[in-house]
Amino acid sequence: MTDRQRVLSGMRPTGNLHLGNYLGALDNWVRLQDEYDCFYFVANWHALTTDPENSGRAPESTIEMAADWLGAGLDPERSTLFIQSLVPEHAELHLIFSMVTPLGWLERVPTFKEMVEQLGLESPSYGLLGYPLLQAADILMYKAQWVPVGIDQVPHVELTREVARRFNNTWKPIFPEPGAKLTEIPKVPGTDGRKMSKSLNNAILLSDTAEEITAKIKPMVTDPARKRRTDPGNPEICPVFDLHKIFTPDAEREEAATGCRTAGIGCLDCKAILLKHMIPPLAKIREGRERFAAKPRQIVEILHEGSRRARVFAQRTMDEVRSVINLEPK
Ligand code: TRP
Repeated sequence: MTDRQRVLSGMRPTGNLHLGNYLGALDNWVRLQDEYDCFYFVANWHALTTDPENSGRAPESTIEMAADWLGAGLDPERSTLFIQSLVPEHAELHLIFSMVTPLGWLERVPTFKEMVEQLGLESPSYGLLGYPLLQAADILMYKAQWVPVGIDQVPHVELTREVARRFNNTWKPIFPEPGAKLTEIPKVPGTDGRKMSKSLNNAILLSDTAEEITAKIKPMVTDPARKRRTDPGNPEICPVFDLHKIFTPDAEREEAATGCRTAGIGCLDCKAILLKHMIPPLAKIREGRERFAAKPRQIVEILHEGSRRARVFAQRTMDEVRSVINLEPK
C-alpha cells in the first residue's frame, strides 16, 4: 500500500475497444498510473442493468477488453485491475447505501431518464435505477479521491459525494468525498462522420491491423461539398480533419488543410497523410494487445490476482462499515 492518492474507474465489458474509448478514457488511465495508486475494474454488474440476457458474452468481452487495457499500457504491477463481481463486497455496500438514499436522488439522475427513453423501457428495473448507487459503492469502497470519467458521468460522481455525506452523517465519517477528474477529450468521429460507436459500425478498433485501418479510412466521409477532386474543401467541417488534429503534426496538418482548401490535393492524398501518422501509434497498441490476447489464461490470472488484492481492501472497508453501523450483538 502506498500513500499516493487513489484513483478508481471502471468500464462495462464491451469487448474490443475502439479509438474513441482509447482517447476518451484508456489513454488517460494509463497516464494516471505515474502519479496515483490506481484501481481499474470491469463493471460487469453494471452491464447487467441494460442487457441481462446477454450475460453469456461477458467472459469473452472481459478478456478482449482487458487485452486492450494491457496492450495500451495498464500495468498490473502498478495498478489493481479487477472484476467487479469477484469483489462481492460492492453489493453489500450498495445495499447499505440504498438505505440512506432517497428515491428522488436516483430518479433525478439524467442518465436514468436517457436510458429509459433510449431503450424505450416501459418498466425500468430496480437495478437500472440503482446504477449510479452501485457506482457510488465502487468508488467509496476504495476511498478513492479521484474518478477519471467523461462529462456524462459527472452526475454519478456528484451523487457519490451526496451518498458519502449521508452515510457520514447517519453513522460515522469514514468516507472521503471524491472528485471527478475530467480529461480533455478530442472529438473522435467514426468513419461515417458521426460519433465513433461500436453499435453504429463506424469504429476503428484497437485490434484493427494497418490494412483494416486503411480499408476503413479510405471510404471515410469527408466534406460533402467536395464532390470532385477539383472542388475546394473545408477542413473545419471534415471528419478526417478531426483525426488529423489527433495524429498529424502541426506543419503537415496545415499543409493538408491548405491543399484541401485550394483543391491542391485530393481527399485520398489527405487520407494517406493521416494514415502515415495514425498507423504507427495504433500498431504499437495492437502489437501489445495481441501478445496478451494470445495468452487469455494470463489475462484471466492478472484479473483474478487483481481481484484478490481489491478484495482485501474491500473487506477492510466493510469491516469498518459494519462496525460503525453496529447491527449485531457482540
Ligand atoms: N458508469 C460507468 C460507465 O458507464 C462505468 C462505471 C461503473 C464506473 N462504476 C464506476 C466509472 C465507478 C467510474 C467509477 O462508463
